[in-house]
Amino acid sequence: MRKYDYILVGSGLFSGVFAYHAMKAGKKCLVVEKRDTIGGNLYCEDMEDIHVHKYGAHIFHTSNKKVWQFVNSLVEFNRYTNSPVANFHGEMYNMPFNMNTFSKMWNISTPEEAKAIIEKQKASVKGEPKNLEEQAISLVGEDIYKKLIKGYTEKQWGRDCKDLPSFIIKRLPVRYTYDNNYFNDLYQGIPIGGYNVLIDKLFAGCDMETGVDYNENREKYNALGEKVLYTGTIDSYYDYCFGKLEYRSLKFETETLDKENYQGVAVVNYTDRETPYTRIIEHKHFEFGTQPKTVITREYPADWQEGMEPYYPINDEKNQSLYQKYKELAEKETKVLFGGRLAEYKYYDMDKVIESAFKLVEKEL
Ligand code: FDA
Repeated sequence: MRKYDYILVGSGLFSGVFAYHAMKAGKKCLVVEKRDTIGGNLYCEDMEDIHVHKYGAHIFHTSNKKVWQFVNSLVEFNRYTNSPVANFHGEMYNMPFNMNTFSKMWNISTPEEAKAIIEKQKASVKGEPKNLEEQAISLVGEDIYKKLIKGYTEKQWGRDCKDLPSFIIKRLPVRYTYDNNYFNDLYQGIPIGGYNVLIDKLFAGCDMETGVDYNENREKYNALGEKVLYTGTIDSYYDYCFGKLEYRSLKFETETLDKENYQGVAVVNYTDRETPYTRIIEHKHFEFGTQPKTVITREYPADWQEGMEPYYPINDEKNQSLYQKYKELAEKETKVLFGGRLAEYKYYDMDKVIESAFKLVEKEL
């Protein structure tokens, strides 16, 4: 007799949304998580009474009312609005590119003036853009490209913008209003009390084993459950039989500072090429913290190697066709379900992960 209806491999958001609905449907679930903590990339570590986003800054934003109502039924969200600032050699610019940015850059005040400058600078690219540099200039002009895009993008990809393909940047949001809100979504915020509150609610009632890699103990766990929901990397599930999928990774350097307020905002992007990190996150500002100390994290882009966290899938032909091969195998499984950013080799914002888990819930439960 199998003890569980579902063995949930991974304790991230995808698994959590499925777990929540499975428990409500009266199913028994065991969660197997290889890290010592639960929540996947949403997990926050408590430092100085501040919720530190250990796997990168996470800001919840969505236009999907059903998703918003679902998360709000579990935890209340605060009024945090993402308004990052760019630091270019000490010059501070508002993001995304909007009238505050243009007014600082060119000492102008009206949308007409900003549009005229951008249109004039865009014209320097003749014909189809041949690389990312030309593509960016054709969208926003030279000044914004040089001060706010070039260095940041080159650090992110580890390559010169002239050597990067133009398709990486399809659009660049340009706003001719004085609006620093990064997202266009209807709803955004941070869970009051941090993401761990949301995660705990999602997995309430499930049995949980942490510090265990499912792939190394498959037989044991398969024997315990009727079905498996697998949210780890799909190539590792199939023992890399077709080869390894590639990722971009990040390195985080976190530091506690004996001061109340370091940068006055949660996110500062360093857009010059010389500063080795791309961003500094000051975590307390996500929750309007007033703690006496502060915690900051410097974010460094990194090539992914074995043992590092796989953060961003590489969206090129080679990796996509490799993923398709694994996907075909996955589609033949009858007892194993796959979902989430690692199993689908896809960059997924949190709201999209929830939407995708909702679809699985509808099909499965
Ligand atoms: P997730 O990776 O969270 O969970 C998978 C879990 O499975 C992990 O805990 C892993 O340890 C575990 N696991 C893997 N293999 C296993 C095995 N073999 N055995 C046992 N356990 C195993 N989105 C957004 O909306 N706003 C934002 O601001 C951000 N910011 C952001 C920053 C960075 C740096 C990244 C990389 C991503 C974001 N995101 C985001 C996206 C967000 O992180 C993403 O939508 C969710 O974490 C996806 O949840 P999953 O459950 O799919 O994966």
